Amino acid sequence: MKTITLALLFLFAPVLALAAGGSGYDLDSVDTDHSDKASLQRGAKYYQNYCAGCHATSFQRYERVADDLGIPHDLMMENLVFDKSARIGDLMTNNMDQKEAKEWFGAAPPDLTLVSRVRGEDWLYTYLRTFYEDPKRPWGVNNKVFPDVGMPHVLMELQGVQVDSCVGGDDTARDPLTGEKLCGLKVDPERKGSMTVDEFDQAMYDLVNFLSYSAEPMKMERQQLGIYVFLFLLVFLVFAYLLKREYWKDVH
Ligand code: HEC
Repeated sequence: MKTITLALLFLFAPVLALAAGGSGYDLDSVDTDHSDKASLQRGAKYYQNYCAGCHATSFQRYERVADDLGIPHDLMMENLVFDKSARIGDLMTNNMDQKEAKEWFGAAPPDLTLVSRVRGEDWLYTYLRTFYEDPKRPWGVNNKVFPDVGMPHVLMELQGVQVDSCVGGDDTARDPLTGEKLCGLKVDPERKGSMTVDEFDQAMYDLVNFLSYSAEPMKMERQQLGIYVFLFLLVFLVFAYLLKREYWKDVH
């Protein structure tokens, strides 16, 4: 019995750790789709314009991204690669000095190639949409799923400034009848961004889709291959069964 309990504990330990790791904020779920090339292209555009200045995705190459997303190499280099010394076959690294970055932000911006797998896609989607005004923080913003984050709200010009109406209250409180959240984040009507809430959500979907692709570029291939493997096993089953009948016919 003891061994079974122990085995179960090991089996579920990663799940428990993940469940405990959150900040208690309800994550919004997101359903990424690597076959949606238009979304991935838009995601790559947002990533290169708003994130690549600080972060690297250094396990990925420009060329692979261009090929997988259907972007011609010259367009990729002209419009999406701002480091003019970079070449198409280069890794998507970043020249920011890690030590200086640590002084500026309190923490160096981590590599994002695998972040959607480390943190989860839902976490990432929620993280990017829950920066809110907090005068106590050095950049004037805080984050709901990454409290006291060192990253500034780099998408403020798109989203606008969100204000938290829960201050000091309970983020998870819901109306017992309708189930609606009692308080939450709202864009300040005086300080709107260039996008509406829906447009911003779509943009963040595209960005998460791109980072999800980045963490597993062969996902589509893997799933397609999986279907062939199952078909092969199905056909093989027929022959295996016939063979078994042949071997056992003298025994019975
Ligand atoms: C001005 C520099 C800067 C820019 C631009 C920037 N970040 Fe960050 N980011 C940081 C820093 C610094 C941290 C580390 C924060 C900490 O650990 O407190 C961080 C942390 C993160 C994390 C958390 C990683 C983890 O697992 O701890 C994610 C995810 C992230 N950034 C995504 C993005 C995305 C997506 C963009 C583009 C929209 C972006 N960042 C743009 C500086 C930046």
